[in-house]
Amino acid sequence: MSKPFIVVCDGMDKNIFESLCANENIEVHPNKKCTQEEIEGLLPKANGLIIRSATKPNKELIDKAPNLKYIIRAGEGTDNIDKAYCSEKGIKVSNTPGANNNSAAEHALALMMSVLRKTPWAHASMKEGQWNKAAFTGNELWKKKVGIMGFGRIGQLLCKRLQGFEVEVSFFDPGVTESPFSWAKKVNSLDELFSDSDIVSIHTPLIEATKGVVNKDLLSKMKPSSILVNAARGKIVNEADLYDALKNNTIRGAGFDVFETEPLKEKTQLHELDNLILTPHLGGSTEEAQFRVGQMAADQINEFFVNNNLVNEVTS
Ligand code: MLT
Repeated sequence: MSKPFIVVCDGMDKNIFESLCANENIEVHPNKKCTQEEIEGLLPKANGLIIRSATKPNKELIDKAPNLKYIIRAGEGTDNIDKAYCSEKGIKVSNTPGANNNSAAEHALALMMSVLRKTPWAHASMKEGQWNKAAFTGNELWKKKVGIMGFGRIGQLLCKRLQGFEVEVSFFDPGVTESPFSWAKKVNSLDELFSDSDIVSIHTPLIEATKGVVNKDLLSKMKPSSILVNAARGKIVNEADLYDALKNNTIRGAGFDVFETEPLKEKTQLHELDNLILTPHLGGSTEEAQFRVGQMAADQINEFFVNNNLVNEVTS
C-alpha cells in the first residue's frame, strides 16, 4: 500500500522538516524548497498539506487535490482555509493552537513600544546621518491604559506580559464572562474599550462578526493621543478609515503587522503615513515559534495518518 503523501507548502523549521522526512510511515514532499508551481504539480497526489498563511486552500486549490484528506495550518488563524468547502469534501482541518502565541503577543508589545518611543523613525534618521534627539521624544508605557480587543489565548498572554509595566488593562470579548486576572477589567462594549484606552491592541480572530468592525465610527471614539496595534488580522480594520484617522491625526499612531490584502508589496496610501509602523505579518515569525508549530504539525500528521487520530480539529 502506498504511503500517505504530505506536501509542505509554506516552509517549516529545517530540523522538524528533516524529522518529518525521516518518518518512514509517510512520504514528504517537497524534500526541498519548491516553487508554487512545483507545489501545485504535487497537489493531485497530496493526502496531507502543511501550510502557513501564504497558501490559501480555497475551492480552486482544493479541486486540484482530489486525494486530500487533511490540512494542517501550522499556526493559529485558519481564515485562509475554505473550511466549509473542506467539510463538504470530507477534508479535516487542524491548527497548532498556542504554539506561536507568545511570539504574537510579544510582537504586539514590540509594536506598541516602537510607536511610543518612535524607534523606527529614530533609526531611519540616524541612517541618514542625523542626531535629532528633540524630534524623537516619546512616551512611556508604564501606567498607561491598554485595551485588549479579543481575550483569547494571545490577548491573555499579552495581558500577562503587560503586568510588569503596571498598566491598567481592560478587555472586550463577548466570549469571556469573567476576567481571569485580577488586574484586567472586562468592559461591555468596543465603544468603551476604544474611548477609554491609551493603546488598543487587537487580538480577535477574523470571523464574520469581526470583519471591518474597527471602522470610522469606532476610530472616532479613540483619544487623539491614542495608539492602535493590529497583529491579528488585517480585515478586522477598515484600512481606508485607518488611513483617514492617521492622516488627520485623530489618533496619534499605529503599529500594523497585518493588512486587508497580503502580501502588501505595492506602495499603498498606508506607506505614505509617517505615524504608522508596518511589519510584514511577523507575529509568528520567530525561530522558537516556528520550531513549536512545526513540531506540533509533524506530530499531528503522524497522529492522523499513522494512528488514525485527529488532533486539534478546527471546523469553523
Ligand atoms: C497565525 O495565525 O498563526 C499568525 O498570524 C502567525 C502566522 O500566520 O504566521
